Amino acid sequence: MPVSQTKSHKPLQVPAPESLGPVTAEEAKLLEKLDLSRLPRHVAVIMDGNGRWAQKRHLPRIAGHRAGTQSARTTIETCARLKIEALTLYAFSVENWRRPKTEIDFLMQLLREYLKKEMPLIQRNDIRMRFLGRMDELPAAVQKDVREAMEKTAGNQGMVLCIALNYGGRAEIVDAMNAILAEHNGNGAGARITEEQLSRHLYTEGLPDPDLLVRTSGEMRVSNFLLWQIAYSEIFVTETLWPDFNRARLLEALVEFQKRERRYGGIREGQTEPAKPARVAGE
Ligand code: FPP
Repeated sequence: MPVSQTKSHKPLQVPAPESLGPVTAEEAKLLEKLDLSRLPRHVAVIMDGNGRWAQKRHLPRIAGHRAGTQSARTTIETCARLKIEALTLYAFSVENWRRPKTEIDFLMQLLREYLKKEMPLIQRNDIRMRFLGRMDELPAAVQKDVREAMEKTAGNQGMVLCIALNYGGRAEIVDAMNAILAEHNGNGAGARITEEQLSRHLYTEGLPDPDLLVRTSGEMRVSNFLLWQIAYSEIFVTETLWPDFNRARLLEALVEFQKRERRYGGIREGQTEPAKPARVAGE
């Protein structure tokens, strides 16, 4: 098993089936298929499709972002109640600065509002907040809100909610390398960097790598998200646009995850010999 899969020492907690409260008939069916003792420890989500959702309704793009906050709320609360250890949501990438200024300003404002409005839900569910990305490049008011959200939730013991904000996977690896170099004070000649050491300098330090990466809106890309950490993640892409991603769609992703066989580059359980290569024609 890769080194960063083993770092977290949190004992496995199995949620009670009724922890989600009242469920719809569709959700009940999905829950029947789900083994609550084999849920992913860390779920990462690329929340995509807000713009297309709005476009389909002849609304401005920002209406899609606003609608997307409801899906974020549902996903956060459901994962917390399922006792998933960590949830990471991709809210704003380093590439998103290329969007029109009005949309960027709206997204920053929406995040600030979100942190304020959702704090009771975060606290009620014992969630600890972290932010992944280059915080020092964000507007000062956003930095302040981010700091406060982390401080207010620092003592919580439940799920870790990571918001990737001004985040880039390549930037994260570069930041980790620079942090390691700084530790060596320029005297690192001949030193070798290990995978374990690099993992310890990533924004996700201390968290298990995502077991499941969900991407909405059907795009088959990882978009510079958690490049190091998703080395062995199961990827689930759904056509559903992010504002339509409800609890049933999340449960569906978890059911699909449990159908996958995870081998980490090894061989299937019970398989003693590596599979023979396919016979070449004429052999
Ligand atoms: C992508 O849709 C989504 C984003 C840029 C992330 C923003 C997410 C939200 C506002 C959801 C709320 C989350 C939090 C944590 C406040 P897109 O604009 O790329 O959609 P498109 O590909 O259809 O244009």
